[in-house]
Amino acid sequence: MIKRPVLAANWKMHHGPSAATAFMRSFVAAHQPRADRTVIFFPPAPSLPAVVAEAVLRTDILVGVQNIHWAEKGAFTGEISAEIAKEAGAKMVLVGHSERRHVFGETDAQCAKKCVAAARVGLPFMLCVGEKIEQREAGETAAVVTRQLREGLGQVGHLITTEFLLAYEPVWAIGTGLTATPTDASAIHTLLRSELTAMIGTRAREIPILYGGSVNVANAATLIAAPEIDGLLVGGASLDPGAWTKIVQA
Ligand code: PGA
Repeated sequence: MIKRPVLAANWKMHHGPSAATAFMRSFVAAHQPRADRTVIFFPPAPSLPAVVAEAVLRTDILVGVQNIHWAEKGAFTGEISAEIAKEAGAKMVLVGHSERRHVFGETDAQCAKKCVAAARVGLPFMLCVGEKIEQREAGETAAVVTRQLREGLGQVGHLITTEFLLAYEPVWAIGTGLTATPTDASAIHTLLRSELTAMIGTRAREIPILYGGSVNVANAATLIAAPEIDGLLVGGASLDPGAWTKIVQA
């Protein structure tokens, strides 16, 4: 059961198995389990077993993968399936992170297939949405995130009973030092929640919606306190155990 707030660390392409082990030893010693929040780590796939091993006694910590392929198996060099991720210990998968979309060209249709693949094996997923700066400046934010949400979840059908989360990550805020104001982020979260209600009814209230984009030790508490922000998805500031511990305890 995922408790809110949810504090999720996206390590991207950082921390191999040794660095991941050292990080986790430091983090689990500094942060005692708290029943009122869930901590998630998305390490690079080869570091997953190391993170899982260090968190084995911690029910407040979940470990996931940053990406999956939608097929069950096959000739897809370099990819991992939901089944393989699950067997390796993943309890969550990130789908449609902006770097997947904008660096690797992942489409809404592919994100939709990845959500289905995760749901098929009962692997909870976190679907990311967010607008680019030119879309924001053109007043298209609401249309973009609504489309990403509808299309991303559009194929899940009855499998939607799988646990899932959303993350709103404005692309212009990722790794740039710019953050959405808590008010702006809250407005988008409210929009996402009402779209989700139209899709899945009152269960939408239970779906955590995280904010991501240049979250750091200084702004975490204010963002987490804003209405409709149920957690944070953090890249750069999650790489240091000291900073990450402070954010988790914000
Ligand atoms: P950032 O990355 O915290 O470094 O901006 C967030 C993310 O990409 O999930």
